[in-house]
Amino acid sequence: MFIRNHWYVALWSKELTRELSWRTIMNERIALYRTESGSPVALQDSCPHRNLPLSKGKLIGDIVQCGYHGLEFNSSGACTKAPGLECPPTWAKVRSYPVVERNNWIYVWMGDAQLADESLIPSVFGNMSDPDWHCVIGDIHVKGGYRLIVDNLLDLSHLAYVHGTTTGNPEVAELADLQTDATDESVRITRMMRDVVPAPAYKYYGNYSENVDRWQVTNYYAPSYILINNGSYAVSDRPATPVDAATERCHWGFQVYHAITPVTENQTIDHWCVALEQHMLKPEDRELWESQMINVLREDHEVYEAQQEWIEMRPENNNDVLTRGALPGDRALIAARQIQRRLHNLEARSAGGKAENAALATSR
Ligand code: FES
Ligand SMILES: [Fe+2]
Repeated sequence: MFIRNHWYVALWSKELTRELSWRTIMNERIALYRTESGSPVALQDSCPHRNLPLSKGKLIGDIVQCGYHGLEFNSSGACTKAPGLECPPTWAKVRSYPVVERNNWIYVWMGDAQLADESLIPSVFGNMSDPDWHCVIGDIHVKGGYRLIVDNLLDLSHLAYVHGTTTGNPEVAELADLQTDATDESVRITRMMRDVVPAPAYKYYGNYSENVDRWQVTNYYAPSYILINNGSYAVSDRPATPVDAATERCHWGFQVYHAITPVTENQTIDHWCVALEQHMLKPEDRELWESQMINVLREDHEVYEAQQEWIEMRPENNNDVLTRGALPGDRALIAARQIQRRLHNLEARSAGGKAENAALATSR
């Protein structure tokens, strides 16, 4: 179930160069490159002549030359040269996608280009480019649908069972007070744990020798962006006025960002970043922290692919409404699935309306 009228991360800024590359988003293969002045370009990766991917061709200045029979296209997808012809034929053009570079990511608009609106890009990933923050980044290529990843990040009770050697312990599942808030296109779930034993990573990096107050706040921005704010302090340092768990990091904590890009119905690339303020990590601990965070993502990856295998055997288990019931911690992910369903239906209705109008116009 795709939602097309949105921005999706195609790749990291540092991956986009003067070499032609390509990515698949929602079953569409897209050729990507930078112009000589550094601007990102995204074109349909298929030559309109005989379908060779344009990314197999050559970049000449800002022009892409197809590697089969030499048609040339500019960065807006118009054909500028057809070898042997005075004028390029009218059919020789490729789709050009709106593209924006921000927060170390290259975002591509996958829907109706007239609706592309940069203000829809979540503005919460700014710490990725702040030198006061230490970032571990990566991609995981998941053989699983993108909604499994959103589900995972909206129910962090799983840390107790999936990440028990680092960020999780039983308290995360058993002693959290939950609050879920949803708007038309976002969901926030706050998990507050008071006076709990710190999980192994908290104890080590936060240097705690007593119980802590700890919080996790997951923010979901439809269709596929996540910001998680994690924070903690020792119970003896508990401030007189309650903290704002959505932004506060206090003594020790970190943020997690995910840009989750559907490749096909059953494949996804999760572009992730774990960021914490430089002073929260001793230089000698960096390597250990980075390897632990990479491993945390690997642990989740295994879960997604095992779920997907089961779903492919029994597709009816991939419903929005869980077939065998829900737990209290599922409230947020069910709210997210309702948003996804609503956005999808809205698009389907408006596409249906447009098709109907076009049919009426041709029948007149
Ligand atoms: S396939 Fe591209 S020019 Fe023929
Ligand atoms: Fe996880």
